[in-house]
Amino acid sequence: MEPLYEGKAKRLYATEDPNVLRMEYKDEATAFNAEKKAEFENKGRLNTAITLAIYRMLEAKGVETHIVESIDDTNILVKSVDILLVEVIVRNVAAGSFCKRVGVEEGTAFKQPIVEFSYKSDELGDPLINDDYAREMGLATPEECAELKEKALVINEVLIDFFKRAGLKLVDFKIEFGRTKDADAKIVLADEISPDTCRLWDLETGKKLDKDRFRQDLGGVMEAYEEVLKRVEQIS
Ligand code: C5P
Repeated sequence: MEPLYEGKAKRLYATEDPNVLRMEYKDEATAFNAEKKAEFENKGRLNTAITLAIYRMLEAKGVETHIVESIDDTNILVKSVDILLVEVIVRNVAAGSFCKRVGVEEGTAFKQPIVEFSYKSDELGDPLINDDYAREMGLATPEECAELKEKALVINEVLIDFFKRAGLKLVDFKIEFGRTKDADAKIVLADEISPDTCRLWDLETGKKLDKDRFRQDLGGVMEAYEEVLKRVEQIS
């Protein structure tokens, strides 16, 4: 069966229900807007399990997500949504592009979280935007931007506490939202939350347990993802 959509880490397939899609997690890993590519056996399985555990926990805390149900190791049924082209990044500690852009040392903790928007565009490399850009580009209204920020900050609070119980520091993460196609047309959390989309450091040792191991050639990429899944399952 041909996918309806193929992204860098996932494929989306139609199902018999027009309101439901099958999301398949791939083993491919990309970084730096797909300039760096590799395949890691089991990555799809690990990210499926990690995302499912996190989204179920978030649902239990009142955060609505696109998850319908799990099918197998690498496939999840999700609600068909219109993905907003505004990606939301929340940062608790300086790392990655933030450090590069403004010269702040990696590991500097923020007093309050920083919320950033970026334009979801592979062609342009997901550039940083703000709510004025989103309004003028027709990506999201000011009210929608406010809702995205508010939802992202609630998710951040829940995730900080969750990962802390797993012995992990939530440095930053990227999330995507979609609008449901039913009459409610609600904005729900879509996409995934996994070590591909979060920076997670061991609370005691500071060891990086996320995609930075791939980006920075630190080795032990899948071992780190396995460790995250093990800890997440222990507290779920
Ligand atoms: O690279 P940067 O520091 O902007 O990334 C911030 C956070 O967003 C990181 O956790 C990174 O894994 C995630 N991210 C992502 N997809 C992107 C860009 C960033 O998941 N396209």
